[in-house]
Amino acid sequence: MKTLGTPLSPHATKVMLLGSGELGKEVLIALQRLGVETIAVDRYDNAPGQQVAHHARTITMSDPAQLKALIEAERPHLVVPEIEAIATPMLEELEAAGVVRVIPTARAARLTMDREGIRRLAAETLGLPTSPYKFCDSLAELQAAIDAGIGYPCVVKPVMSSSGKGQSKIDGPADVQKAWDYAMAGGRVSGGRIIVEGFIDFDYEITLLTVRALDAAGQVETHFCEPIGHIQVSGDYIESWQPHPMPGTALARSRQIAKAVTDNLGGQGLYGVELFVKGDQVWFSEVSPRPHDTGLVTLTTQVQSEFELHARAILGLPVNTALRSPGASAVIYGGVEAKGIVFDGVADALRVPNTDIRLFGKPESFVKRRMGVALAFDADVQVARTNAKLAASKVKPRVA
Ligand SMILES: Nc1ncnc2c1ncn2[C@@H]1O[C@H](COP(=O)(O)OP(=O)(O)OP(=O)(O)O)[C@@H](O)[C@H]1O
Ligand SMILES: [Mg+2]
Repeated sequence: MKTLGTPLSPHATKVMLLGSGELGKEVLIALQRLGVETIAVDRYDNAPGQQVAHHARTITMSDPAQLKALIEAERPHLVVPEIEAIATPMLEELEAAGVVRVIPTARAARLTMDREGIRRLAAETLGLPTSPYKFCDSLAELQAAIDAGIGYPCVVKPVMSSSGKGQSKIDGPADVQKAWDYAMAGGRVSGGRIIVEGFIDFDYEITLLTVRALDAAGQVETHFCEPIGHIQVSGDYIESWQPHPMPGTALARSRQIAKAVTDNLGGQGLYGVELFVKGDQVWFSEVSPRPHDTGLVTLTTQVQSEFELHARAILGLPVNTALRSPGASAVIYGGVEAKGIVFDGVADALRVPNTDIRLFGKPESFVKRRMGVALAFDADVQVARTNAKLAASKVKPRVA
């Protein structure tokens, strides 16, 4: 994009976010600051991003007809997927017909919404190290795959799922049936295909935020952020920090893997590459073609947050991935099931040194729904982790 326009005028630069949760909201704010006209799409009204965009639209994004009708009616310059559950073949069709540009590419959105697409690309096409794996369509196939070499322990995941839904670990033969049933209940679409992966006994896992942005000559250049360490509990991140210290060899390998995957997926924008690390060994796990939830920490640690980096990269603007200070993030869960909840203790949280919080404004709370995040910076990343967790613990969501 060579020039930027004025929003709500005939020369507006228009960007549509498909998915307007807490991550989309921050991308929308970054775009708003550049005078971009924004359209926030979600499956329910008053989603966080819809509260900060010029236009709010509520549709079923997995329905190809609804998606096509909306894109044709709005005619945005860019369509930015922010969730996985989208009718991506329709995005490919519209992109191929020249109707719209999809970020980073429609193919990247399609391959990464399905564990099979991205795993086969990484392991079989690109030859990158991953956990051993097999795709199965029945309990019998799952048992056969384990017996034929995947072994115990292993992890079962529906091919179409995110945030750990339907995912469980199998420690021995007694767990196989239970893991299969759990995966069948937790997948995004019926069909019942799963991936079984050998369990990697990693020392730690990181997210390597990788940005494809244009240089002065208009060529794509790859930039890396400092590695983000995180802790996952039942497939959901609860805490992240940056930088995560890494030996030089492991960091170099991580960057090589991230570069190989993102070169192949192409386009412009920020990717979140998930990697497992043990000593100097690195395994590719998966990749998001968009800002990553563990990257919320960059709101306090980087000169440009992952959301600003994404906004700049997709518009063809230069990016700066420099760290400003080490820091950490800790998730604030809803804890209650209710609409229109209130939050006590916000002032107490903000009295913890060098902290900040984001409350996402989600209209409805669930016990395990992410409603906000606490952020902390400190020269010592351990102090930042302690303070982020302390600040998060002081925020008390409750029924109004
Ligand atoms: N093969 C494995 N060996 C060891 N741990 C694993 C393996 N696969 C997944 N995990 C653990 O489970 C977490 C979630 O797995 P994964 O990222 O594949 O699921 P997800 O549903 O896509 O999660 P999210 O959407 O939160 O990224 C990983 O971050 C890791 O901690
Ligand atoms: Mg993941």
